[in-house]
Amino acid sequence: MHSVETFRELQDEATEWRRYLHQHPELGYQVHDTARFVTEKLASFGINHIETGIAETGVVAVIQGEGGDGATIGLRADMDALPILEASNKPWSSQILGKMHACGHDGHTAMLLGAAKYLAGTRKFKGSVALIFQPAEEDGCGGQRMVQEGIMDRFGISQVFGMHNRPGMEVGKFAICDGPVAAALDEFDIIVKGRGGHAAHPYRTIDPIVVAAQIIVGLQTLVSRNTDPTESLVISVTKLHAGTAYNIIPDYAEMAGTVRTFLPSLRDFAERQIEACAQGIARGFGAEIEFRHRRLEPAMFNHTKGTNLAIKAARGLVGPVSVAEKIKPSMGSEDFAYMLEARPGAYIHIGNGPTASVHNPSYDFNDEALPYGIGYWVNLVETALAA
Ligand code: NI
Repeated sequence: MHSVETFRELQDEATEWRRYLHQHPELGYQVHDTARFVTEKLASFGINHIETGIAETGVVAVIQGEGGDGATIGLRADMDALPILEASNKPWSSQILGKMHACGHDGHTAMLLGAAKYLAGTRKFKGSVALIFQPAEEDGCGGQRMVQEGIMDRFGISQVFGMHNRPGMEVGKFAICDGPVAAALDEFDIIVKGRGGHAAHPYRTIDPIVVAAQIIVGLQTLVSRNTDPTESLVISVTKLHAGTAYNIIPDYAEMAGTVRTFLPSLRDFAERQIEACAQGIARGFGAEIEFRHRRLEPAMFNHTKGTNLAIKAARGLVGPVSVAEKIKPSMGSEDFAYMLEARPGAYIHIGNGPTASVHNPSYDFNDEALPYGIGYWVNLVETALAA
């Protein structure tokens, strides 16, 4: 087990990679230059098993240990940026207007590259490591597509691990929990169909705006009056569009929103009851609704064995007091959930210091965190695959 000092010598080089990636952000599946950069670096480390074009632009590379046969563990980094105009004012700010690495995926990619360089140079483990560089984490379910394209079977991956930076947590600290980590994400649309008319004569209309307002209030009670308060459900109405003029009651109103849950039973409940509640309210006022519901990402669960392994690797790097082992799960969602559905493993948070929050135009990944992330990956591999 190595302390972080072992990895300080990689910091300057990893910082260069990170800032290059930061200057050249790409979105979704269009991470062509990023994937090319990653592939070139991996090849320069002497890694000869590299597969590209998985889920369009994903890359998987395999490093074999020198300790003999053993299992293969997967380490995943995401590569995509966000459609945000950067306002960090850093010398290495985005060179592409309207796109930026505002979630630190540039740092995640650089940390996995740093670990790849170290592991390819030392190979003090048995079995193999599969380095997974995925596109489209933010939007597009790139993790799901890599799983659908068979990476787990093809590379014989038996456990899989992920990492994300966390602003507001000190550099050199890690945080994790066993069990639920991130919530399932669903979206819904409701169209309220009334009957439009002159705003001076509302009694001759069925006003869809008033009905929509009642539905918004009604949906709040699914959480506050119909759900066990010790279980988590979030229902947020996030869009509401209706009308064109001061004196017209429109024919319809459109609303949309998001649902976050951990338990499958609550996910089913929300899908069923949002429609029933909206339908019931609308009928009471003589209106009708059209309802659409989409299940997007599943909830993400850390597995006990993988969590314990992650804690051991992080503790070895920074000491036990710097590893929070029982953090609260987040109602946010994360597309690494698909990989943890396919294989056991764990997802850990790494401190990014007092930076702006992720998805904020002033955010920047903290390069001081690079040796910690690199060291975590290396410790994890050498612990899981101890020769
Ligand atoms: Ni992210």
